[in-house]
Amino acid sequence: MIQPAVDELQPRARGFRSSWETLTRALKSLLRPLSEPPKAWLYVCELGRLAPGQSLTYLTPAGATVNVARRGSAAESASFLAVSSVCPHVGCQLRWESTNGHFSCPCRGFEPPATPPHLLLRYPVKLEDGVLYIEAPLERRGPSL
Ligand code: FES
Repeated sequence: MIQPAVDELQPRARGFRSSWETLTRALKSLLRPLSEPPKAWLYVCELGRLAPGQSLTYLTPAGATVNVARRGSAAESASFLAVSSVCPHVGCQLRWESTNGHFSCPCRGFEPPATPPHLLLRYPVKLEDGVLYIEAPLERRGPSL
């Protein structure tokens, strides 16, 4: 077998490395939209603004509409539920059913599916010093939910 001379191989290796780096950069730029966008705790309202059984609609800086509902009277984050207003089934707008304490979807007239791949997109909620916050992305990447 004939071995290439060392000085013949190095330009080829350099060319291969350069192509590899170019390909890697291109792939990284393509995959960037799939990475997690930065998130922050966002002010929603004062605790007194949302009575037990009520809900409100919140628009995030990324353009997502979030339904925030108060299920219980306790002044704790577990009394609140924040979900995307868009049903993951086929995209109907969810509405809060205060008498039942859950979100319903007009598509099927009852609670949206609770199994993958149609799980509701939930947002973490926290209550701090009488102020309600949700944790949400600050910018949009991928489809709007
Ligand atoms: S859009 Fe079909 S169950 Fe919500």
